[in-house]
Amino acid sequence: MTITYKDEKGIAGMRLAGRLASEVLDYLTPFIKPGITTNQIDKLAHDYMVDVQGCVPAPLNYTGGGNKPYPKSICTSVNQQVCHGIPNDKPLKKGDIVNVDITVIKDGWHGDTSRMFLIGECSIAAKRLCALTHEAMWHGIQMVKPGATLGDIGHAIQKFAEGHGFSVVREFCGHGIGQGFHEEPQVLHYGRPGTGEKLVEGMTFTIEPMINAGKKEIKEGPEQDGWSIVTRDRSLSAQWEHTVLVTPTGYEVLTLSAGSPPTPAFVK
Ligand code: MF3
Ligand code: CO
Ligand code: CO
Repeated sequence: MTITYKDEKGIAGMRLAGRLASEVLDYLTPFIKPGITTNQIDKLAHDYMVDVQGCVPAPLNYTGGGNKPYPKSICTSVNQQVCHGIPNDKPLKKGDIVNVDITVIKDGWHGDTSRMFLIGECSIAAKRLCALTHEAMWHGIQMVKPGATLGDIGHAIQKFAEGHGFSVVREFCGHGIGQGFHEEPQVLHYGRPGTGEKLVEGMTFTIEPMINAGKKEIKEGPEQDGWSIVTRDRSLSAQWEHTVLVTPTGYEVLTLSAGSPPTPAFVK
């Protein structure tokens, strides 16, 4: 597969899909409280995507080329879960942190975004990890413009995250996105400035750093479900994700909506 460049029609499709994915998170937000199960969140999200938005939930039955079909419509990764947590019947409890990752398909185009949610009162360490991971994602987004490289994005994220004593997960990365869920290129969240693919107007890809409070190493989750990934040292892990478009002068974040958290003050 190769990188796809979106024309005006493709950009319009990606804008709509991106906004709808973000609006699923807006819709879910008031429900994500102590006592709700991730299966209940999955059901709310599924019904909203299908019945209200007329979208297809991209994760449902997704194989990612080789994996077993993903059984749910969203990913919910709690505490030490890094990514691809499968919703289940365990209630969320005060002090948990959870990533909810939504990917919709609208008119054939994909929108992919995730946010962290704090369940009730959380530890200072948990709040700090979630807030700084959001900032790390935005440091990466800010690098996006024609002529910049993928390494510029990765470096900005890595430098910021490691500068705060956190670590960057290596095994999972952002990705090109369009009519395919996971297209080229791979968008690493670490790297060296000036290395890697040059960014070109019309590219659309995700930036979705997974940042661990402890060490960067990961392993398969104890569920042995073929998807869930946890930190090897059982430290907390956070992730935020946006889908972005390379514009003639910089970037446009496609996965914004009324309920998106404020953009950090350092973003120009
Ligand atoms: N939404 C995830 C991403 O950001 C991918 C989930 S694949 C699934 O790339 F099958 F686990 F849903
Ligand atoms: Co993604
Ligand atoms: Co995602």
